Amino acid sequence: MTTTPSGDQIVRTFIDFFRERGHELITGGTLLPPSSDPVLFTTSGMHPLTPHLEGRPHPQGRRLVNVQRCLRTSDLDEVGDRTHLTVFEMLGSWSLGDYDHSQSLRWGYELLRDGFGVPSERLYVTVFGGDDEVGPDRESLRTWRELGLPVEPTRDENWWSHGPVGLCGPDSEIFVWTGGPGTPPQGTPTTDPRWVEVWNHVSMRHRRLGDGGLQPLRQPNVDTGMGLERLVTVLQGHDSVYDSDLFEPWTRILPPLWDLDGRSRRLVCDHLRSAIVVIGDGVRPTNTGRGYVLRRLIRRALTTLWRDDPSRTLSDLPEEVLRHTLDHFRQSRGTGLVREVLLDEERRFGRLLERGRRVLGRPEFEGPLSDEDYHYLHDTHGLPRDLVTTLRTP
Ligand code: SER
Repeated sequence: MTTTPSGDQIVRTFIDFFRERGHELITGGTLLPPSSDPVLFTTSGMHPLTPHLEGRPHPQGRRLVNVQRCLRTSDLDEVGDRTHLTVFEMLGSWSLGDYDHSQSLRWGYELLRDGFGVPSERLYVTVFGGDDEVGPDRESLRTWRELGLPVEPTRDENWWSHGPVGLCGPDSEIFVWTGGPGTPPQGTPTTDPRWVEVWNHVSMRHRRLGDGGLQPLRQPNVDTGMGLERLVTVLQGHDSVYDSDLFEPWTRILPPLWDLDGRSRRLVCDHLRSAIVVIGDGVRPTNTGRGYVLRRLIRRALTTLWRDDPSRTLSDLPEEVLRHTLDHFRQSRGTGLVREVLLDEERRFGRLLERGRRVLGRPEFEGPLSDEDYHYLHDTHGLPRDLVTTLRTP
């Protein structure tokens, strides 16, 4: 690619590259994992493929590629900075017991260099250097050296696992230098944050058991994942994911609508966009589980909006951002319904705040509150602790 590629072009280039190498495109689906899965939301591209990585044949074969929407709440407090997002998309490729890890790394390099035009001088990779349990990943080290890329071995950073038990294995991460045109690459991925990780290639060949032991999988797999928004940001040469064209209607429409500082604007943008996608996948605000995540997203956005101006309302959100977001995530739900859910939650939250202010204005709640007060406010008036704290913050 010679000119700056658009987000859509980048997705197409990725998918075409793997299709040309025998991969079938699987439909990157909903954020909601199957009911047998204990987690609330899909958190990575490999997640829906877990049974197939464990050995069940996939109906579309052993080489797969997709774009999967994901949601991570672990980073919620970091949202508002330039890189963290709640809902994002992951480009992924898989070998289910087919080609080996080394082949995946070679293709990874080829796609970044020839497909996306990243010069090899701007690339650095890390590999698993071994620990007390598993030896160093010599195969990856050898492959990268043959390809002529600088390699940094690490320990924990290059051991991928899904959780305390389950699929895991050594990974190799590819970093791109983002120091800007006049600044030649310096340091290594672990010493200079301007090396940004774009692609993770996991050699998924173990399972961590409940007793802490490691068991080899029936088939060694390769699982790769690349966060789309971050990749697009790096390839388009921006500092912030919000400056990439993927956020175009949001970043054009929000500033004239609501006058917010940069951090607040990013938070409102992330949370509302994420809320739309979650609603688009059929979730409604509730006090538990997925619905609670959605409720928090909407309420955190409203808290930010109402801090300076309580008359702001989500009914001012133009149709265009709703339409664009649902279309981008290939969701068929109508914008009218999504707007209704947002506004209904806005009304509920508005009423709750009103009640909260009334109750907290009583003389017995002046001064510091005890745990007992918090329990009372929650159980009798439905006012959660964080809301009480927000209402009492001058
Ligand atoms: N499993 C790896 C990740 O989540 C690659 O898909 O990053």
